Amino acid sequence: MTRISVQVDGVTYTDDVEPRTLLVHYLRETLGKTGTLVGCDTSNCGACTVHLDGRSVKSCTVLAVQADGHEVTTIEGLADGGELHPMQQAFNDCHSLQCGYCTPGMIMASVDLVRDNPDPSETEIRDGLEGNLCRCTGYQNIVRAVQQVAGGERS
Ligand code: FES
Ligand code: FES
Repeated sequence: MTRISVQVDGVTYTDDVEPRTLLVHYLRETLGKTGTLVGCDTSNCGACTVHLDGRSVKSCTVLAVQADGHEVTTIEGLADGGELHPMQQAFNDCHSLQCGYCTPGMIMASVDLVRDNPDPSETEIRDGLEGNLCRCTGYQNIVRAVQQVAGGERS
């Protein structure tokens, strides 16, 4: 076992983990952060997307030990107290989810996308989110939500 100390959603956790433990499993099974989902075992779906030191990563592709000493934000830490993050609000406003399974990862990836490119075109949004799959095919409204946060509708 290896001892790690990770700040997750503003709280520091110190735990002993097996070196092979994936970050997503540490978040869900040790910390109970079940808002971060597992949708595949092939690194394709993006349901497990979190922020590691502010950048989106697929937490099924990161070992928990690699997060030692770093800062992780999950969908559960995105809201500011009782106030939704603007991207969460936009997904709600634009009806950007159906079953909701892809939604936590989509939102985390979208926040990172807009931080990198505050004025993305529709193509840039679609390209930026290509690592996140929605099986309900709700992409149009997801794009709309990102556009809302980025400051307006455009084609
Ligand atoms: S669970 Fe599908 S990419 Fe991580
Ligand atoms: S809303 Fe169902 S997978 Fe995206």
